[in-house]
Amino acid sequence: MNTDQLKIRRMELKDLDGICEVEVLSFSVPWSRESFLNEITNNLFARYLVVEYGENVVGYAGMWVVIDEAHITNVAIHPEFRGHRLGERLMKEMMVFARQEGVEHMTLEVRASNKIAQNLYRKFGFTEGGLRRGYYTDNMEDAIIMWVNLNDNEYVESKSS
Ligand SMILES: CC(C)(COP(=O)(O)OP(=O)(O)OC[C@H]1O[C@@H](n2cnc3c(N)ncnc32)[C@H](O)[C@@H]1OP(=O)(O)O)[C@@H](O)C(=O)NCCC(=O)NCCS
Repeated sequence: MNTDQLKIRRMELKDLDGICEVEVLSFSVPWSRESFLNEITNNLFARYLVVEYGENVVGYAGMWVVIDEAHITNVAIHPEFRGHRLGERLMKEMMVFARQEGVEHMTLEVRASNKIAQNLYRKFGFTEGGLRRGYYTDNMEDAIIMWVNLNDNEYVESKSS
């Protein structure tokens, strides 16, 4: 992978096709195009970033920011681009972005079976803070709730210094 071709930036309307492609390839219950459109155009709490490789959107992540707390809504990398640290770069950018927005704590839900994503989040200091039983209605899987404190977080600090 040529890292010169990589860019992480705010999500725009022109990204919707690429986002929907990654979304369908990444989740058993994908969000609709309308959901993403609404996030970008109507939801004042929503903040989204995309990973661009050349001309293509190969990943994205989003969060809802409410006062000093951010709730991660989704994180996904195109299957053909996984394992190249793009998820890691994206999470780092999200955390720095959140900090710039005044966020102190981030939270998210992750499927109990999704060990890959859990590993990624743990790398950034997220820890388990509870369980939502049967949260995922497609298979009634439990969600693990994870939290991280952005104050004194080494990933946020190393980026801004
Ligand atoms: C989770 C996801 C975003 C990771 O993206 P990625 O670019 O492949 O991940 P990276 O290459 O940046 O790896 C970062 C870390 O993630 C974890 N990870 C990534 N791939 C892994 C694998 N195959 N097995 C175990 N852990 C893995 C590791 O902790 C890794 O760090 P390490 O290599 O130092 O151990 C990607 O797998 C994805 O899009 N999955 C489908 C959607 C999804 O599950 N999203 C999360 C919803 S909560």
